[in-house]
Amino acid sequence: MATVLVTGANRGIGLELCRLMSERGDTVIGACRSASEELQALGVRVGEGVDVADEASIKALDERLGDVKLDVLVNNAGILTVETLGDLDFDRIRRQFEINSLGPLKVTLALRHRLGEGGKVAIVTSRMGSIDDNTSGSYYGYRMSKAAVNMAGRSLSHDLRGDGIAVGLLHPGMVSTAMTGFNGIQPSEAAEGLLARIDELNLSKSGTFWHANGEPLPW
Ligand SMILES: NC(=O)c1ccc[n+]([C@@H]2O[C@H](COP(=O)([O-])OP(=O)(O)OC[C@H]3O[C@@H](n4cnc5c(N)ncnc54)[C@H](OP(=O)(O)O)[C@@H]3O)[C@@H](O)[C@H]2O)c1
Repeated sequence: MATVLVTGANRGIGLELCRLMSERGDTVIGACRSASEELQALGVRVGEGVDVADEASIKALDERLGDVKLDVLVNNAGILTVETLGDLDFDRIRRQFEINSLGPLKVTLALRHRLGEGGKVAIVTSRMGSIDDNTSGSYYGYRMSKAAVNMAGRSLSHDLRGDGIAVGLLHPGMVSTAMTGFNGIQPSEAAEGLLARIDELNLSKSGTFWHANGEPLPW
């Protein structure tokens, strides 16, 4: 069974990923800023105080992990704020870049030494970061930050290939979490799909972009 670390593990999709993977026997480390009762109830290892925008907190997590090796790193933590052309708040846009784009890069950089041949890095991105799929505009910070993390993931797929590490860019679907005002499919269904995509991720698929339901997505 695999050893997996998930960021943003205290609620939403990250929590359900932890639940599912722990139920099937994987060793799960749930990294989060602050643990929830639901995460604690899973009985998985919890790494608190991890803000993916804050390199010092990621480094502190790495130090606490000791000699743990990872098979899978799931970069799930993310935020969404709404910006229209008439309401462009650049601080909010910048914050989404810090968390959604740079966060996965910072976490992957800090923890990559724990991944070896056959290791996997999953980035929970969004089809809202797809340029081809953008038929309705708006959401400047979220769309731009997810497009940027897609590019980071593609570069990582090239740069980690030599170490035998595959990188997958995964869209969970429209999921009923706080992010969507609880509209969409259940987080458990999204987590099942994400896990199936993570399970089938390998070097031949590295650097590609998938819907959790198994459809390839356009860039
Ligand atoms: N829900 C959807 O329909 C949907 C669609 C496409 C993509 N996604 C992506 O799926 C991922 C999970 O979203 P969700 O729907 O589960 O949203 P959510 O319920 O709002 O959960 C977001 C998670 O990210 C964490 N987080 C936010 N900022 C963080 C930071 N600076 N450092 C560490 N953790 C941070 C939150 O922790 P706190 O509790 O500490 O804030 C929480 O655990 C995100 O990357 C999101 O963009 C979601």
